Amino acid sequence: MARIQRDYSNNGFYGIGIMHGKHDHNIGTLWRSAYIMGASFIFTLGRAYKPQTSDVVSTWTRIPLFHYDDINDLKKHLPYSTRMIAVELDEKSHALETYEHPERAVYVLGNEKNGLPEPVLAACHDIVQLPGSFSLNVAVAGSIVLYDIVAKRERTLPQ
Ligand SMILES: C[S@@+](CC[C@H](N)C(=O)[O-])C[C@H]1O[C@@H](n2cnc3c(N)ncnc32)[C@H](O)[C@@H]1O
Repeated sequence: MARIQRDYSNNGFYGIGIMHGKHDHNIGTLWRSAYIMGASFIFTLGRAYKPQTSDVVSTWTRIPLFHYDDINDLKKHLPYSTRMIAVELDEKSHALETYEHPERAVYVLGNEKNGLPEPVLAACHDIVQLPGSFSLNVAVAGSIVLYDIVAKRERTLPQ
């Protein structure tokens, strides 16, 4: 399965993860997208990940899979000068379509039942929201964010 090749003249990296993910097939699907779309790492918050068959590339064997206890633990271990971006339906959010992704960022998604709690939204530097007023499946939402990062980076790469 082909993966997006990183262009190292284009600096930056991104990681993506989920807080208290409930369904392993969703998490596995998200990891598969993350690997293919060029994420540098993946992570879980609060609930550790058990390998799951929807991650057909076994992403955790290819890029680091980190586990953090909670958002404070993630913040404490955040790579230097890296932004924490919550992905959530929220009135304080930026629309994904017009959002300029930071060069170094981690994206945090909420779980299928409860979404991201207010303290997590408050701890993040930015919140981004996808179009529509209903929640998407978490793996779908994460995959769209990943695609948006890639599409915008491709547009700014030197020709
Ligand atoms: C199924 S949703 C959570 C739904 C939850 N019942 C609620 O109402 O908050 C799971 C996660 O997917 C992401 N998500 C789903 N739809 C989204 C959207 N339109 N914009 C941004 N994030 C979204 C968020 O990270 C959310 O926490």
